[in-house]
Parts: sequence; structure tokens; C-alpha cells
Amino acid sequence: ETIDQRHYLVGGELKEWKGNTTEVHSTISSTENYAPTLLGSIPDMGEPEAMDALQAALKAYGKGQGAWPTMHVKDRISCMEVFVGKMKTKRQEIVKLLMWEIGKSLPDSEKEFDRTVEYINDTIEDYKELDRTAAKFQKQSGVYAHIKRGPLGVVLCLGPYNYPLNETFALLIPAIIMGNTTIFKPAKHGVLLITPLLEAFQSSFPKGVVNIIFGRGRAVAAPIMQTGKVDVLALIGNSKSANALQDQHPKSNRLRLVLGLEAKNPAIILPDADMELTLDEVIAGTLSFNGQRCTALKVVYVHDDIKEQFNSKFAQRVDALKFGNPWDEGVKLTPLPEPQKPAYVQELIDDAVAKGAKILNKKGGQHFDNYIWPAVLYPVTKDMRVYQEEQFGPIIPLVPFSNIEEPLDDMAESNYGQQVSLFGKDVYALAPLIDTLVNLVCRVNLNSSCQRGPDVYPFTGRKDSAQATLSVHDALRSFSIRTFVAFKDN
Ligand code: G3H
Repeated sequence: ETIDQRHYLVGGELKEWKGNTTEVHSTISSTENYAPTLLGSIPDMGEPEAMDALQAALKAYGKGQGAWPTMHVKDRISCMEVFVGKMKTKRQEIVKLLMWEIGKSLPDSEKEFDRTVEYINDTIEDYKELDRTAAKFQKQSGVYAHIKRGPLGVVLCLGPYNYPLNETFALLIPAIIMGNTTIFKPAKHGVLLITPLLEAFQSSFPKGVVNIIFGRGRAVAAPIMQTGKVDVLALIGNSKSANALQDQHPKSNRLRLVLGLEAKNPAIILPDADMELTLDEVIAGTLSFNGQRCTALKVVYVHDDIKEQFNSKFAQRVDALKFGNPWDEGVKLTPLPEPQKPAYVQELIDDAVAKGAKILNKKGGQHFDNYIWPAVLYPVTKDMRVYQEEQFGPIIPLVPFSNIEEPLDDMAESNYGQQVSLFGKDVYALAPLIDTLVNLVCRVNLNSSCQRGPDVYPFTGRKDSAQATLSVHDALRSFSIRTFVAFKDN
């Protein structure tokens, strides 16, 4: 049964779309003779609908005196509680769509849904705390002040395909609760799973607070930016899209950016690392959701003293992973949602092999349509594309090193700076290294793979990896500004 999504949410109304539509396919085949599965279709909107959504968001914000930005904190929280209550009833439907639309395994799809509900509940609690703190008056040098956090205005929100629910909501929910009004365009893959939530958004929030439109970024997001009336660009995805949208804004220096972008997180494996633990963590770090995570380990530096042992065990472990469809028991590798990804992965493999790397695992690179077996490449050198590009897929570059300065130099030169995983046992050797690494990235993981969670910890990056910080606690701050009323002690 297909989902032909014909409604969009603007100004509190679920409007019916009568124009052109775009088909949504899954790369998972439902027949024995491979063929992508038709899941449904979505509206192919353009500038008029984008402008309607913008007008609705502007009207709901008013001059800062709209019903939403001025609503009492308790009432805003009640709206969010109503929404999350309705959302919880859609778990089964959304989990199923996560599996079909983006190929995420059943346990990971369930986790994405549950983590999102928890994120919303924790945001509500943190917001209550923020409000309690703001209630206090301060007095400094004879001036009383009541300092609060206020909204920024209209937020344009675009989420990524790898976490179309969780990461999109990690932007949208804090933006809404802080009193901003929003326009949200779902990701290309993972778009139908927003359908079951349209009514919940419509009935839980006042008119125009959340506006949801569908279409290509160029057709709907770009014209919104060109008006110069957006106050915040909130995007998780790639810097190319973020830059292109930012450039459309006529006064982009006024634009607040809340961006989660690319990363090339390294694992550095020292000679005394615990071999079994390191193998487990590097497998999870490189290949969870087929490596399609910004936090995935995307380059693995292995010390010369242990490279033979590590490389051969790692290659065997990769070939022993279970491949299948998302709902198969114990499955670790699943089909990739982007139809063009196998060709890209193949290009990276060909380039590396032409420049001297070998595929270490027997099944490496084998593929049947979008079912690709991960390729372990060794030795990877700086001139190879897989070393330079964020592969965001099942291909693992192993880089040998003899001196710790080699990976440190690479990290210092890199355009990215999100996280690192450091494997080793000697605390006296690790301590000075940690001191250096925290100045190159924002999170150092000791003997464990990189990850975003727990969601209360700051999630950010240096250089081209991020702008602003996302986490339960920090996102409320990223989507607000400190304002205050002051008076003198006369
Ligand atoms: O794509 C980037 C995500 O933020 C990764 O999140 O570490 O929880 O998988 P995760």
C-alpha cells in the first residue's frame, strides 16, 4: 500500500495539494528480481507555497508580539506535551517507514524513534529549568536586571536523511519551544515518515508556529532565503547545501547559523591498545548504519607495531557481519537509500586501488544494486580520494603510522574537527595526547567509538564540521538570545 501524501501544513491549515508530485522509492526490493519499491509520492512545491509558509511564520511571530513568542512558558510546554503524546501513538508507523525509506535496521529505527521522544521530554524539562533560573533578579553596580532567554524569530529548518526524525527534531523542537516560529522541509529520503505527524503538528500548536512544506531545496528553501526574512538557518547535512542557502540571504551576516555538517573522525590505535575491544569499537564506529553517520569513524590510523594483527582480524570481522533487509534478525549491513551511492563508493575504491591500496577483505566492494559489502582499504595515503572526502558509506581507509605526530598533523590540517577515538592503555602516554586532541576536535573518546549521545552532552565541531551546539541543553541556547530589562537603584 503506497502513501500518496497530498497535504502540507501552512498557517495552521492542512492544505490540499493539487499540483505535480514526485514519487518516493525505496532501494529495498520487494521482489526477487531486483526492482526499487514504490512507497508513495509527495507534493512537488515551488515558490508560491514557500512564500505562503514564510508569511504564516512571520505572522505567527508578529513583531515579537505574536501569540507564540509571548505565550506563557507553561502554555508553550503544554502544547509540546500534547504533541509528544500524539507522536507516541505513531511509533509503529514511523519505525516501518524508517526501515523502508532509509534502510535503517529495526532496532536502530526503534532507537531513533524512542530517542526522539526522550529528546523532546528532556528538552521540556531543561526548558523548565531555564525558566526557573531566569525568574531571578540580579543586581550589579546599582543596576537591577531580569535576564531571560528570548526567541530569535523565524527559523528555516532542514534535516538529514540519515536521521530524518531524530536530528530534524533536534533542530525543530528546541527552536519551537523557545518561542520561534518555523518552516520545516523534510529530507529527500525519510520524507514520508513526516506524514503521520502532520495532524499532530497542526492540532498541537497555534497557527503558523510550525509550517511544513515539501519539494526540492532549490525550489522552496532558496526563495525563502532570498527574502532576507529568515533569522535562523538550521540545517544538518552538508556544507555545500548550507553555503548555497546562506548565500541566498541578502544580509547573511544577520543570519544565525545552527549547522551540523561533515566530519572525518579518525580512530588512532596505539601499540598497547586492547585488541578485542578496539576491534569491536572500530567495527561499530565505522559501520553502524553502513557508515552513514556524521559521527562515523572515517579514517583509521593503525600503529606499525600492530598493523598486521589488527588489519587481518578487522577484515575478517567485516566479512562476518550479517547483511540483509532492515527487519532481518541480527542484521548489521543494509541497503543504502541513495541510488547513486554504489557508483560513488566504487569510484573511491577504484581510485584507491589505482594509487596502490588493496582491498583486504574477501567480500569488499561486492554489490548487488544498493546492497554494498564494505571495503577495507590498506594502505591508504593522502593522495587518495577516500582519505580526503567524507565517504559517508561502507568504505574503510586504514592508514599506517609510526609516529603519533603523523595523525596529529593530519588532524591539524583537516577541514573538519568533530571527534576522535583514541585506543591505548598507558594513561601516562594518553594524558598529554588528550590535551592536544581536545584542541583539535570537540570530543575525545577513549577506547570507544565516536558518537553523538548521550544527548545531554554538547554536540558540536570545529572548522567546517559545525556552527553552534546541539544537545538537549545547548540547543535551547542556540535558538535563543539573552535579553533583559534593567533599572537603576535610585
Ligand atoms: O549523522 C550524524 C549523527 O549526529 C550521528 O549521531 O552518533 O547518534 O549516530 P549518532
